[in-house]
Amino acid sequence: MFVNLSTLLFPLCFVASFPLISSQKHEYDSTIRTMEEFSGYPFQEHGFKDSSSALSVDIQSLQRQIDELASFSETPAPSVTRVLYSEKDVLARRYIKNLMGLAGLSAKEDAVGNIFGRWEGSEPEIAAVSTGSHIDAIPYSGKYDGVVGVLGAIEAINALKRLGFKPKRSLEVIMFTSEEPTRFGISCLGSRLLAGSKELAERLETTVDNQDISFSDAARFSGYAHEDFSTVFLNKGHYHAFIELHIEQGPILEEEGISIGVVTAIASPASIKVDFEGNGGHAGAVLMPMRNDAGLAAAELSLAVEKHVLESGSIDTVGTVGILELHPGAINSIPSKSHLEIDTRDIDEKRRNKVIEKIHQSALNISRNRGVKLSEFKIINQDPPALSEDLIIKATESACKELNLSHKKMISRAYHDSLFMARISPMGMIFIPCYKGYSHKPEEFAAPVDIANGVRVLALTLAKLSLT
Ligand code: GLV
Ligand code: MN
Ligand code: MN
Repeated sequence: MFVNLSTLLFPLCFVASFPLISSQKHEYDSTIRTMEEFSGYPFQEHGFKDSSSALSVDIQSLQRQIDELASFSETPAPSVTRVLYSEKDVLARRYIKNLMGLAGLSAKEDAVGNIFGRWEGSEPEIAAVSTGSHIDAIPYSGKYDGVVGVLGAIEAINALKRLGFKPKRSLEVIMFTSEEPTRFGISCLGSRLLAGSKELAERLETTVDNQDISFSDAARFSGYAHEDFSTVFLNKGHYHAFIELHIEQGPILEEEGISIGVVTAIASPASIKVDFEGNGGHAGAVLMPMRNDAGLAAAELSLAVEKHVLESGSIDTVGTVGILELHPGAINSIPSKSHLEIDTRDIDEKRRNKVIEKIHQSALNISRNRGVKLSEFKIINQDPPALSEDLIIKATESACKELNLSHKKMISRAYHDSLFMARISPMGMIFIPCYKGYSHKPEEFAAPVDIANGVRVLALTLAKLSLT
């Protein structure tokens, strides 16, 4: 069904010279230390050849860009922290727009700062094929999550241009705003809005961060929010296809020695905010039977989250209390307020919802038994899972075959902007191995050879889809 591009482009291979993927180590700056410092994992373990395909990736430039982007961080290397609309985020955005320009893409931004770089096809009026990911990074994380899917997408376009490929459908690279919920507590903010969430467009008008800075002010500081947030919405059918390249964030591909994961579905995430209020008081003077300790209520609820998740009976159910704050936060003061943020996910939406109900029930029971007030139990998001589109799965698999790369179908337990793009476009994802499956910590690492393979598969898949 798909055109074999190797055949299509064969004559070009001899008239142009292409930079080959190189196994040469180049000079790395200090931000590269990530894996070597943490675990001694060799930075470039295997040299590799650019086998038979003419589709070549300039991995040295791409790796340099990944490292340069990592230097826009609020915390020291090897960790990366890049929070939405911070100074570092604004600089990183500039960096991306500049690279888009160098790749000959025309860049445009919407009211929340989703950035689109377009390569016009020979039939610009028909729906484009898009690809992309995010560059925001949670506190003390690594430099590959999301970044590989943005910089890798630009390099995929460069690789196709070097080949002399001419797309029929336009190709678009998207850098999504705030996939991570760090600043405003809303995950996949940009893609959720692109997919037409009216509820989010309204909520953003009153959303503030933990410093009481409103979303609108923060966005304006970065040069956005000049229009209504509903202008960000895209219609279903706006894109012919969307495909995202990402590190696996799990150990399967590395353990099994497989180059590429072809994602078939993305698990359903949910997040909840909980507040308890007690009486507080003096840590020495208030006797134990007289206490209404909001901190202990939070501790008890944290353990209940673990219990309910384990009770589901499935290894696919997970739950995390990633934020737990006590007020006033003094060793000799009984906590009068506590705040928890709970993340729970499953590939089975109903089972995940059952866990949420049980967590709610536990919060009510704990509040009653401990005489603390449950002042808030707010479900921030409770998203359904998404399925990849057969057309994109097949295009990706056939790209892997043509490039001689081992691959397997798999699900994504992490969420991605693809979860929301699937609401308005056929969606697919390409995973590459990462060291021990590490992610959301500084030890996160993907080998250049695996990044290059992912970019080649992405480029070939984009090319195929652009001709359909
Ligand atoms: C994405 O960052 C996730 O938490 O799955
Ligand atoms: Mn992430
Ligand atoms: Mn990500």
